[in-house]
Amino acid sequence: GSTGRYQVCCIGAGYVGGPTMAVVAKMCPKIDVTVVDISQRRIDSWNSEEESELPIYEPGLKEAVVNTRGKNLFFSTDIDGAIERANMIFVAVNTPTKKDGLGAGRAADLTYWELAARRIAKIAKSPKIIVEKSTVPIRTAEAISTVLNASGTTKFQILSNPEFLAEGTAVRDLENPDRILIGGNLKDEDGIKAVGELVDIYSHWVPKERIITTNVWSSELSKLVANFFLAQRVSSINAVSALCESSGADVDEVSMAVGMDSRIGSKFLKASVGFGGSCFQKDILNLVYLSESMGLKDIAEYFHWVVRMNDLQKDRFVSRIIHGLFNTVTGKRIAILGFSFKKDTGDTRESAAISVCQRLVDERAHLAIYDPKVYETQIWQDITTASKMDRLELEKLVHISSNPYDAAKGSHALVVCTEWDEFRDLNFEKILSIMEKPAFIFDGRNVLSHEYLRKLGFVVYAIGKPLDPRLNVV
Ligand code: UDX
Ligand code: UDX
Ligand code: ADP
Repeated sequence: GSTGRYQVCCIGAGYVGGPTMAVVAKMCPKIDVTVVDISQRRIDSWNSEEESELPIYEPGLKEAVVNTRGKNLFFSTDIDGAIERANMIFVAVNTPTKKDGLGAGRAADLTYWELAARRIAKIAKSPKIIVEKSTVPIRTAEAISTVLNASGTTKFQILSNPEFLAEGTAVRDLENPDRILIGGNLKDEDGIKAVGELVDIYSHWVPKERIITTNVWSSELSKLVANFFLAQRVSSINAVSALCESSGADVDEVSMAVGMDSRIGSKFLKASVGFGGSCFQKDILNLVYLSESMGLKDIAEYFHWVVRMNDLQKDRFVSRIIHGLFNTVTGKRIAILGFSFKKDTGDTRESAAISVCQRLVDERAHLAIYDPKVYETQIWQDITTASKMDRLELEKLVHISSNPYDAAKGSHALVVCTEWDEFRDLNFEKILSIMEKPAFIFDGRNVLSHEYLRKLGFVVYAIGKPLDPRLNVV
């Protein structure tokens, strides 16, 4: 760069690009980091002086941003300028599942990625290292390399560097990662040099033995496989939860007993209403598509079952609610506690709460939704997108509450969709007094004290627990 300092650019200022670059800037004071985006609104909000106005909520993020912004971390819409200056360009644009055309519903939509790549090809005048951060189907790097190197004059090295951060713990995960995975062309001198430059950046704070290098395709595939394994554990324990309810076993006891086997491990064995988030379903469908397109039909089906089990679990939960409420929820008010896909994030992408609400609204239930972090406009957008009904019809059925007590008031049931800590500390005596009787609780996250609630007088359903004898089951 012109200043003589190493210049990093990141295209895409979203959930991945924003936090990742904030941590790079924090850990590497000698490197200039510029995060660019086509969305002026996103960039304005990253630049906002109001700390509460950052576009995403992550514990520790605002400190990381405030301490580096304007020093070596910059947010801008000047994409071309940032590309031109950069030694290394991260691409962290969104790669949603394709909605139409070939591979619709399964394949990744690489429109944004390709646009970004073509932009780089057009603007860059000096050799650049391009780092693929967005999760992409395998062999994307190769395709991108073809696009980038087509013009012939400027040389590009393409690296795969998948991001394993989880939302809600993004900053912690970035600062202390289990591993950093870098895929590159290790058979080529320029490839080795490019990998080395990226290793140098991470070495500022990550121990060397945790930085692993592979060929590009292994790196790309590992990201998809890691998400498959994690989601598979949730679907497996959710399958077991159905068995528990029928047999009188307790899924949390089973999880504990199974997880203490060091070969299995205790993490990601929490039964729930279903996994959500922008990655799991998308990445698995991606694996399904990939397998199918390679003629591996049975393998594709094996992968696909993890998503199908997740859909079944959401259906099963809603059936428990409907049957529990004497086989009809039409006209009954139901309080939904939690709308994000997990606690400590305002993100609702693929949240189980969306499916639960959509199915209940289809039954003409009246919903009162409360979430501590999700914006009201987001809830409306998600429900309108998911439902067959239009906004006007939905407004007759759906109400957004600003606190859990307002939501509970006059409700027949409380439905916990997200495991927010604050739900454990609610005043349930008060809640019981303002609800219709019998008062039901459907705990889709097993976070409440079920025995205590039963003693108070609630009829309680919890995932994978022996059924409450007072619960109507079909
Ligand atoms: C298994 C369980 O491990 C043990 O806890 C239970 O009590 C009985 O069943 P075992 O059948 O003796 O024990 O052997 P194990 O080491 O689990 O291997 C089972 C099979 O899986 C073997 O054929 C092994 O070669 C295979 N395996 C295991 C793999 O192919 N890959 C692996 O990564 C691990
Ligand atoms: C995931 C991966 O963990 C991360 O490595 C990858 O980079 C992106 O995808 P994220 O989607 O942010 O991260 O959240 P995660 O904590 O993995 O949870 C995903 C979903 O599974 C959530 O809805 C969560 O509630 C659910 N879950 C998780 C369970 O239902 N039970 C569990 O035991 C664990
Ligand atoms: P992720 O979870 O993968 O980070 P997000 O949707 O949160 O996904 O963020 C992706 C960001 O990338 C969005 O802010 C979007 O505006 C931005 N983006 C998409 N395409 C381009 C592009 N061609 N150039 C610059 N920014 C882009």
